[in-house]
Amino acid sequence: MKEVVATRYVTPLREGGSLPGIVEADDLGTYVMKFTGAGQGRKTLVAEVICGQLARRLGLRIPELVRMWLDPVIGLSEPDQEVQELLKASGGLNLGMDYLPGSIGFDPLAYEVDAEEAGRVVWFDAVINNVDRSWRNPNMLVWHGDPWLIDHGATMIWHHNWPGARASAEKPYNASDHVLAPFAPDVAAAAARLAPLVTEELLAEVIAEVPDEWLADEPGFASTEALRRAYAEPLLARAATIHERIVLDVPARDAPSGPPGWLADRLAPRTARVRDGKGGGR
Ligand SMILES: Nc1ncnc2c1ncn2[C@@H]1O[C@H](COP(=O)(O)OP(=O)(O)OP(=O)(O)O)[C@@H](O)[C@H]1O
Ligand SMILES: [Mg+2]
Repeated sequence: MKEVVATRYVTPLREGGSLPGIVEADDLGTYVMKFTGAGQGRKTLVAEVICGQLARRLGLRIPELVRMWLDPVIGLSEPDQEVQELLKASGGLNLGMDYLPGSIGFDPLAYEVDAEEAGRVVWFDAVINNVDRSWRNPNMLVWHGDPWLIDHGATMIWHHNWPGARASAEKPYNASDHVLAPFAPDVAAAAARLAPLVTEELLAEVIAEVPDEWLADEPGFASTEALRRAYAEPLLARAATIHERIVLDVPARDAPSGPPGWLADRLAPRTARVRDGKGGGR
């Protein structure tokens, strides 16, 4: 990841729960900045780096990630107190994601994704245990006609409880709520193509991109190197077998309200094809 220095805080992105901001940098780029001082904590940023860089290495579309230095002084003239406090608490190294100007939120009713691409995204989200790409909150943008993946902060739930990581990583992935579930995702084809790429070497390279500062002092780990190895293990294990444990046909029980009837009708035949193991079909 390249390293840039934040030069101007432009505006907060209020739709993001962690209050990311649009920030300009000394390379004349514009970035969506995620702050170490946000309530979600630095593990969110660790997840963004590992999963984002893994996605890129697997050929999925994701905006460039950069290490972004922040001197909180650039927030001094910021009128919003919440923003000022966030900047004050985030001096040092933060995460930047290339801002995609003119992008719009992905809408599964307005945009078609083929079964092959849907399969790759669902399989990838299963590997990293992404619980944040649902039809309620797609975390995908459409830019220049293509879908782009953003926001990998709510992944790898096991890194919040390392002693239980192995058991947690063995669990299945329920993709029934996934924003791409309606597109008959061909996860078997995705696993066949992508799983062999997820090697120990690749994971080590990706995990090496996480700044040491975000890994320091994790309870139970003698060194950041040991923690980096712990990050690799569940991903390696899941890449090999998770396609056998992706649940795609059970309607979510906690859904506040299902899709409207006319949409449910449209979705039903495709879901059935996935259940029959035929996949594809679009
Ligand atoms: N690279 C980008 N280019 C353009 N807009 C972006 C980009 N990244 C994020 N956004 C916009 O900012 C919003 C918030 O970003 P993101 O989802 O990454 O933040 P978050 O705080 O993790 O959100 P959440 O509320 O989902 O936890 C997105 O929904 C999108 O509208
Ligand atoms: Mg989001």
